[in-house]
Amino acid sequence: MVDAVVILLHPILGFSMAIWLYRQWKIMKALKTKKGIMWSKIQDKKRSEIVNEHEVSGRRSLLFISVVIFFAVVADAYRYFKLDADISSIVSLHGWLGLILAFFVYLMYRSGTKIVKQREEKENIKQVRGIHQRIGDFLVWLLIAVVFLGFLRLLDILQ
Ligand code: HEM
Ligand code: HEM
Repeated sequence: MVDAVVILLHPILGFSMAIWLYRQWKIMKALKTKKGIMWSKIQDKKRSEIVNEHEVSGRRSLLFISVVIFFAVVADAYRYFKLDADISSIVSLHGWLGLILAFFVYLMYRSGTKIVKQREEKENIKQVRGIHQRIGDFLVWLLIAVVFLGFLRLLDILQ
C-alpha cells in the first residue's frame, strides 16, 4: 500500500504538471491566433486579465516542477532502500529528459519575468518575447516526450 502511494505520487503530480504547462502554453497561443477551443473559452475575458493570470501562475512553475522532481527522487530512494532495487534502474532517459525539462521551465521563468520588467520600464519587449515564445514551443515537444517515456517507465517499474 505504501509502495503504491510513494511510487504513484510522482506520476500523478507529473501528469498534472504536464496538463498545467500545456494550458499555460496553449492559452497564450490562442490569445494570438484567436482560434480553436481554447480561444472560445477565453474570448470573453480581457487580454490584460489573461496575461496577468499567465504571469501569476507562471511564477509558480519553479515551485511546481521542484515538487514533481522531489517526489521522483523520493520514489527512487524508496525503491532503492526499501525494495532493494538495482542501482542501474534508478536513472532513466525519462529522468534525464525530465531534468532538462526543468531547466527549460527555469528559462521560461527567467524570460517571462524579464518581459514583465521590460514592460514596466516601458522598454521594447519584442525580442525577449520572441525568445520566450520559441523556448515555450520547444518545451511543449519535450513535455510530450517526457510524459510518454514516463508512462513507459511506470509500466517498467510496476511489472
Ligand atoms: C513534468 C513532468 C515530469 C518530470 C520533470 C519528471 C522527472 C522525473 C525524474 C527527474 C525522475 C527521477 C529519475 C528516474 O527515476 O529516472 C523521474 C522518475 C519517474 N517518473 Fe517522472 N517526470 C515527469 C512526469 C512523469 C509522468 C507523467 C509519469 C508517468 C505517468 C512519470 C513516471 C515516472 C516514474 C514511474 C519514475 C520512476 C520513479 C521511481 O523510481 O519509482 N513521470 N521522473
Ligand atoms: C512556465 C511556462 C510558461 C510557458 C509555457 C509560457 C508560454 C508563453 C507563450 C506561448 C507566450 C506567447 C508568446 C508569443 O507568441 O508572443 C507567452 C507570453 C508571455 N509570457 Fe509566458 N510562459 C511561461 C511562463 C511565464 C512566466 C513565469 C512569466 C512571468 C512571470 C510569463 C510572462 C509572459 C508575458 C509577459 C508574455 C507576453 C504577453 C503579451 O504578449 O503581452 N510567462 N508565454
